[in-house]
Amino acid sequence: MSAVVVIGTQWGDEGKGKIVDYLAEKADVVVRYQGGNNAGHTVVVNGNEFKLHLLPSGILYPGKTCVVGNGVVIDPAVIIEELKGMQAKGIDTSGLRISNRAHVIMPYHRLLDEVEEDYRGEYKIGTTKRGIGPCYMDKNARSGIRMVDLLDEEEFSAKLERNLEAKNHLLQAVYGVEGFDYDSVRKEYLGYAEELRPYVTDTVVVLSEAIAAGEKVLFEGAQATLLDLDHGTYPYVTSSHPIAGGACIGAGVGPSQISKVVGVVKAYTTRVGEGPFPTELQDEIGDHIRERGHEYGTTTGRPRRCGWLDACVVRYAGLVSGLNYLAITRLDILDGLKTLKLCVGYQYKGERIKEFPASLKVLAQVEPVYEELPGWEEDTSKIRSYAELPANARRYIERLSAVSGVEVGIVSVGPGRDQTIILADLF
Ligand code: IMP
Repeated sequence: MSAVVVIGTQWGDEGKGKIVDYLAEKADVVVRYQGGNNAGHTVVVNGNEFKLHLLPSGILYPGKTCVVGNGVVIDPAVIIEELKGMQAKGIDTSGLRISNRAHVIMPYHRLLDEVEEDYRGEYKIGTTKRGIGPCYMDKNARSGIRMVDLLDEEEFSAKLERNLEAKNHLLQAVYGVEGFDYDSVRKEYLGYAEELRPYVTDTVVVLSEAIAAGEKVLFEGAQATLLDLDHGTYPYVTSSHPIAGGACIGAGVGPSQISKVVGVVKAYTTRVGEGPFPTELQDEIGDHIRERGHEYGTTTGRPRRCGWLDACVVRYAGLVSGLNYLAITRLDILDGLKTLKLCVGYQYKGERIKEFPASLKVLAQVEPVYEELPGWEEDTSKIRSYAELPANARRYIERLSAVSGVEVGIVSVGPGRDQTIILADLF
């Protein structure tokens, strides 16, 4: 049995797409288990750039089964466009399987995401406005529409009617905006249903059969630990469970089936959206990292906030997801910096605190405790073995591993598939 979960350890955008793409080559099945098109992975294959939002990264390899699990929220127009884009580039998409239990993002979810953000004013979350939160709200309120409903015209029509009645009232009476016309939404979505029908199935069965047959299954987390609804920096979080446990719920596999958990950590920290960020750099080093690392959102194009690597965050991710290995990405972006700072703890009201605080009020007030480490001049992007990395780069990696308490399994020194140094056998 071999089932590996890959998650983000920080606030997202750690380069999970690259690591998942690398591991996908060895996998038989690649699974998305939460989130939706709020995610964005950029994968470079033979110099060609692919931007993925909903499709599992395994889609870029021929012959893989790619599962969009029940825990994902699906905007049908987006997944259809992504499928067509892949097909136009000659990518075979016949291995895609979409869960019949996944919830569907409706136009009112997207509009509610916008008007609710405006309504929050200075307390806004900074969402991607893709309708993710409102769709999960309906799922939890037990009024959502699932793929299985979308494929059943009668069921879909009845659920749409009931939902539109409530949503149009909410949109008009509370937010003062126009609602949606039943006939046109119905027609649009029934059209999507026919395009997606060939891919929709019971993916719990697909996965249990694959695991029983000894196939290698890779679970591809979207977003990251600090954006987890329960374990992240609430309320500045997404509405799903990006931590490793989310794979069990969002794909319908038992915890006993998971063999390894890999946490992807960027060699520095970034975050998009609002909320406290203790190691944020609002100076020329932060600007340098943003420009050198092209730190602008794949999904929204927003500039990402940049800062030093926070090992307390990584240690916390290790606790909540039971990480076996770290995959360190974008080490090359730090090339040329004279000194690096690694956050190893926090000071709060004169006291040293080691653990990641639950209170955002506390998190906003902590002072990071830094260890200063010497940087390196060498271009690491061309290095292919751990031993050849500059001694100071190895020292930085080893210090992160020691403070976070998690072994290092992969070091990535660039976006290409070959720019990957492997230290542990993950599959
Ligand atoms: P939502 O997921 O669109 O509801 O946004 C909630 C929070 O999660 C916001 O701070 C977003 O910026 C953040 N977020 C959602 N998806 C991603 C992602 O893929 N990378 C980084 N941040 C994300």
